Amino acid sequence: MTTLEFVAMKQRGERIAVLTAYDYLMAGLLDEAGVDCVLVGDSLGQVVAGEESTLPVTIEQMIYHAKAVRRGIERALLVVDMPFLTYQVSVEEAIRNCGRVLQETGAQAVKLEGGHEEMARTIDRLVVSGIPVMGHLGLTPQSVHKLGGYRLVGRVEQEQERLLAEAARLVDAGCFSIVLEMLPKGLAGAITRAVPIPTIGIGAGPECDGQVLVLPDMLGLNEAFSPGFLKRYADLAAGVREAVSDYVREVKEGVYPGPEHSYE
Ligand code: KIV
Repeated sequence: MTTLEFVAMKQRGERIAVLTAYDYLMAGLLDEAGVDCVLVGDSLGQVVAGEESTLPVTIEQMIYHAKAVRRGIERALLVVDMPFLTYQVSVEEAIRNCGRVLQETGAQAVKLEGGHEEMARTIDRLVVSGIPVMGHLGLTPQSVHKLGGYRLVGRVEQEQERLLAEAARLVDAGCFSIVLEMLPKGLAGAITRAVPIPTIGIGAGPECDGQVLVLPDMLGLNEAFSPGFLKRYADLAAGVREAVSDYVREVKEGVYPGPEHSYE
């Protein structure tokens, strides 16, 4: 899978399935199951490290997880989130940090949040330097404090116009795809129809070209998180709890390890 193929999928009207992953084993399962793209999201701050937001995530942490994910993937496109303050300070720092992520992890693209003019200039320079960029508009979690919380964005007309303009700007800057997070479905549909590159929705309704979910959320591992847009495809928290309590009981009762798990 390549970034060009991603765009071709939109042209052919094929929908795109994206999931996040943070480790080797899960990445391998996702790849085998046929996801088109694996995103090493900075959501790892929350779902792996238990942080309140993505803000504390560092580039070293992203590189560590992305390298593990890379080893699990044979087919899917690998995209890595650039963490807070690794691409906002200056264009030079952005090129150095995004280039480092591509060089050290083997990822094919990076994802950056925001669509204002300065961000578009940075993205333009990254793309010119050979670094493919996935954009991210709407609820941009690294700006949670500016947005005043994790909320739907784009209800009022002014915000809708801004988001349409930002999407056009990201296209002009050279993004190969845009994540649309927490937008009303009509607005996400309007953006999707207006741009030639695939939109990947999360909490943005069915009119996007593709969908992304955070893996532990859709597997039912993250029981505390249950927004309206989320569909749980499994209940792994219950499965893990049951398996671990069976193990604890069997160890305490002397049932495990039995003769069949022992060496002569
Ligand atoms: O960090 C992440 O996992 C993301 C997805 C929710 C799109 O940015």
